[in-house]
Amino acid sequence: MAFSVTTPIYYVNSDPHLGHAYTTVAGDALARHHRQRGEDVFFLTGTDEHGGNVARAAEAAGMPPKQFCDEVSERFRRLTTAMESSNDFFIRTTDPEHERRVQDFVQHLYHDGHLYEGTYAGLYCSSCEVFYTEGDLIQPGNLCPIHNRPVEWVEEKNWFFPLSKWAPKLLELYDANPDFVRPRARYNEARSMIAGGLEDVSFTRATVSWGIPVPWEPSQTIYVWVDALLNYRTAQEYGLGRDVTAEFWPTSLHLMAKDILRLHGIVWPAMLLAAGYEPPRGLFVHGYFTTGGEKMSKTMGNVIDPFEVIDLLGADALRFYLMREVQWGQDGDVTWEGLHRRYEGELANDLGNLVSRATAMIVRYREGRVPEGRNALEPVHESVAARLDAVDLSGALEEIWTLVRSANRYVEEQQPWVLARSDEPEQVRALDDALYTLADTVRSLGVMLYPYIPASAEKILAAVGDPGAITWERAALGTLAAGSEVRQPEPLFPRVEK
Ligand code: MSP
Repeated sequence: MAFSVTTPIYYVNSDPHLGHAYTTVAGDALARHHRQRGEDVFFLTGTDEHGGNVARAAEAAGMPPKQFCDEVSERFRRLTTAMESSNDFFIRTTDPEHERRVQDFVQHLYHDGHLYEGTYAGLYCSSCEVFYTEGDLIQPGNLCPIHNRPVEWVEEKNWFFPLSKWAPKLLELYDANPDFVRPRARYNEARSMIAGGLEDVSFTRATVSWGIPVPWEPSQTIYVWVDALLNYRTAQEYGLGRDVTAEFWPTSLHLMAKDILRLHGIVWPAMLLAAGYEPPRGLFVHGYFTTGGEKMSKTMGNVIDPFEVIDLLGADALRFYLMREVQWGQDGDVTWEGLHRRYEGELANDLGNLVSRATAMIVRYREGRVPEGRNALEPVHESVAARLDAVDLSGALEEIWTLVRSANRYVEEQQPWVLARSDEPEQVRALDDALYTLADTVRSLGVMLYPYIPASAEKILAAVGDPGAITWERAALGTLAAGSEVRQPEPLFPRVEK
């Protein structure tokens, strides 16, 4: 089985913030989980570097655009590493291998008569790099619905893609794949945009010079969104030094936030259909991080710096918080207070203490060897896998947490320290069962938490003498071998000063 998952490629006109980290962690958790299931995975992320927006940011920074892109892209790449993202490739749209393929793709559309010349006059948001109609905008004042800032009137001669013509094929695609876009509300939103009539899209720009030249008319550049969307294809063609499209195309899952649903759910599949490629298998649209109810963005000036979080609490704390705090698919507020609360309450107390108590008691009462016993708790791995198959990342984590909580309740009920006072065979057996249950449950948690908090999961598995056993079959309870060597690890989530 092959599984390919992508994040949007991030604009380099601003530094990475928690919203960017969110999609990357989500993609990484899915990639790691599918690898656990024995699948071949291609996980892709990267940076989107052309267009007027980036050119303006470079100018404001007093730098040539390419140099500016190199610097900011490097910060995004450093963030993927700092977050322990296991992406197979990091694409940059300024890669010459990408640029050449974008030109070929557009040339091919042109050659096959899929583009026509026309004049565009309309309202353009240069932050979105998207044309809007008055109905889309906040009135009065023609404000961009995303950036809350006035759009500009732009008029130019461009090459157009006849998107409207593709509506029937797109509707067929949607009707044949009820999960094409998830959650359902986003599917309905995209489908009704198509059914309501589509406007053709201008695929070239006469006024933006920082972009890939149109092969047959080099005074124009290719529209940045065409260039950007194609990353999902070109990366599979050159990213690993060989073409892996036979294995990984079409993309299994594109992740993104709702502001770019139209481009991914409508423009992208239409482009692919026109060029004779299979469209993606599915999209998942997650919500926005907000602070005080406002979308977190550079433009809004309300960003949390993920590097700061990692420096203070570690990559796993960041990853856990992002996947846990906001219900996957919904908008939600993220704050430093919330981060500290989850770190202390759930990572340090619920999970960290469980691991620490379980291992300490086995060291103390059974000389560090897992006794023979039966796991007394209810397994959750099947429901976790089912949630992850439905791309419900926070739901799966909540399922895992029910096991964390029941293990903690189990310790309190069994009171192994009381059982340990007696030599009665029945009590000895009860203590063996209790200790086995704890060690085995902690181990299963390590396996299931691996996609979310990989470094801590590896420490947990090492502590119960089962390092490296992260394959999904091992999420089942009762698979820990008696006799495994247990040691108490350093605190997994040490206390930090706020
Ligand atoms: N460059 C385009 C995407 C091209 S993909 C072919 C773009 N870039 S972006 O930098 O604005 O960020 C896009 C993605 O970053 C969003 O779709 C989302 O996945 C993530 N997020 C950015 N801000 C976010 C929040 N405040 N909250 C949640 N996710 C956020 O659009």
